[in-house]
Amino acid sequence: MSVFVSKVKSVRGKVAVPGDKSVTHRAIMIASLSKGDTVIHHFLRCNDTISTISCFQEMGISIEDLGNNEILVHGKGLYGLSEPGSVLNVGNSGTTTRLLAGILSAQSFASEIRGDDSLNKRPMDRVINPLTLMGASISSKMNNNSTPLIIEGRSLSGIIYKSPIASAQVKSSIMLAGLYADGPTTVIEPYISRNHTERILRHFGATVETNGTKVTVYPRPHLTANDISVPGDLSSAAFLMTAALILPDSELYLEHVGINETRLGFITAVQQMGGNITLHNAKDGIEPCADILVKSSKLHGITIEKDQIPPTIDELPILTVLSCFAEGQTVIKDAKELHFKESDRIDALVENLSRMGADITATEDGMIINGGRPLHGAIVGSRLDHRIAMSLAIAGACAEGKTEIIGSECVRVSYPNFYNDLAAISINQ
Ligand code: S3P
Repeated sequence: MSVFVSKVKSVRGKVAVPGDKSVTHRAIMIASLSKGDTVIHHFLRCNDTISTISCFQEMGISIEDLGNNEILVHGKGLYGLSEPGSVLNVGNSGTTTRLLAGILSAQSFASEIRGDDSLNKRPMDRVINPLTLMGASISSKMNNNSTPLIIEGRSLSGIIYKSPIASAQVKSSIMLAGLYADGPTTVIEPYISRNHTERILRHFGATVETNGTKVTVYPRPHLTANDISVPGDLSSAAFLMTAALILPDSELYLEHVGINETRLGFITAVQQMGGNITLHNAKDGIEPCADILVKSSKLHGITIEKDQIPPTIDELPILTVLSCFAEGQTVIKDAKELHFKESDRIDALVENLSRMGADITATEDGMIINGGRPLHGAIVGSRLDHRIAMSLAIAGACAEGKTEIIGSECVRVSYPNFYNDLAAISINQ
């Protein structure tokens, strides 16, 4: 399916950003493993989180839709999952796959995780290796280090794992397996990755210690149901924020957005570029959140690298679009992980933005963008990657003429109402 996006004059208004995807996945999983009833408020209803819900339903957890973006999870405790009647289908969701792999490695039954064609190309050795070190029986069905994964539950041992990559999915997979291990489990990362698993596990009663890039989880806690409210997803907000930064005479107010310190890379980078972003009504909680005010800005290029990459990882595609409109050069380095997302995002961005007239070059671990020249409309392809589709839609709204985005429907993976929200804030004359 194609969507056509034409140049927008300005964006203005208030947006209620959909719930955070990472927090929603973890809330569903950890509530399922806790004893008792948990209401998840403002949860994100999208293809990826529906995959997580259906996997846990398949393992005997009753999850009720209360309407109004609330669900009720009837948790059965750490040992309450039952053998799934069929293969667990995770669709496009890497987070579901990797976190679930940790949980399933410790169950008293065998299971199989299967996903879509995009998922079947993504690396799973990054969880197979550490889980195997813990004693898990987990293998790639096609022997290609990817999904489908075949898992037979085993008793697990606590380990100290020095991860070669900063990845919250890897860290969380090991931590969730660690709940079932015979001793403490420690993960040490090269840089700090998002810490939602740590925060949410503690909220449900687990003992988790953190010290810089090191996190330790203690086994066999008593996880207890506890209601949780999901903040708006900064990764989704970033698309609309970018339109406001680029288009003249724009002003957007985004309510109740998550500002977890491990997710703030986009805001920090934009402020370094000269972007006018301010936070209001900040509230602490299981996950801190605030309202975000963004105004049109005159931007300049920056270098983004090293420990700035993990807190910006999902926003690098839209930051690349923003860089096309910033004066001077933007360099993105140390971002090899972009090759392994829902598409090869470096390749997808360079190919599509070049078609729109951008001066953009791929490097081995990132991109170099010479910004400040106008983009023009073109026929571009999402590669069925939600964040590429939304990045190109924003590029199209800021470019002269008309842009056709082929494969536009994949936004359902994380932000089903994206095109409507963009239309609602767009001013065309
Ligand atoms: C996520 C972690 C990140 C991110 C992904 C969601 C999570 O992946 O890109 O969209 O919820 O843990 P990595 O762990 O591979 O960096």
